Amino acid sequence: MADLYGMDPARIERLRSPERLEYFDPAKIWDALDPDPSVTLIDIGSGVGFVTLPSARRYPQATAVGCDILEGMVALLKDAASEEGLGNVDVRHMEPGVVPLDADSADIVVMAQVHHELDAPAPLLADCARILRPGGTIAIVDWKDEDNGKSPAAGRRVPPNRIRAELTDAGFRDIQSHEIYTFHTFLSATLPA
Ligand SMILES: C[S@@+](CC[C@H](N)C(=O)[O-])C[C@H]1O[C@@H](n2cnc3c(N)ncnc32)[C@H](O)[C@@H]1O
Repeated sequence: MADLYGMDPARIERLRSPERLEYFDPAKIWDALDPDPSVTLIDIGSGVGFVTLPSARRYPQATAVGCDILEGMVALLKDAASEEGLGNVDVRHMEPGVVPLDADSADIVVMAQVHHELDAPAPLLADCARILRPGGTIAIVDWKDEDNGKSPAAGRRVPPNRIRAELTDAGFRDIQSHEIYTFHTFLSATLPA
């Protein structure tokens, strides 16, 4: 088996499973947001790159930056991008709530299946607002707050109204709900230009 850098093999297999594409295809995020092809996009909680890698393939002129708090995830994503020769992928280790990027340096932040794992969403969303340029977009995809056979148990899910309030508190506006996933809520919001 390839080096998993101490990560739980079952967790990595779940994150890499192509079966996920049947209900969570990251391409639909970009179909909905239709970014400029030379966008700088930051995938926070990137894991093994389920969003970062296809985004970098879809937009070769873009820069896709994967950030995660786990060194093992960072190493696995670095390996995958390098094995595929994706020169437009950058990978960073981050501390919770601190994105290791300059202010006003990103166009889009995406967080996929991360929100329900956050101990402190407020400082992270504030830091997302810091790194985004004026008019920049944040996209949050997380499990629906319902018993549907896929979402985690009640208590480990985040109601969309709470995410909306957190986004508003962090300075985001124009919050939109995209009803495109069966098991996931997808909210986008923008910073004032
Ligand atoms: C369920 S995985 C999803 C990974 C990836 N987005 C995907 O859809 O395959 C959640 C990821 O978020 C990371 N994570 C959890 N809390 C975080 C935080 N505060 N900041 C950044 N990443 C975090 C975890 O280490 C993990 O890699």
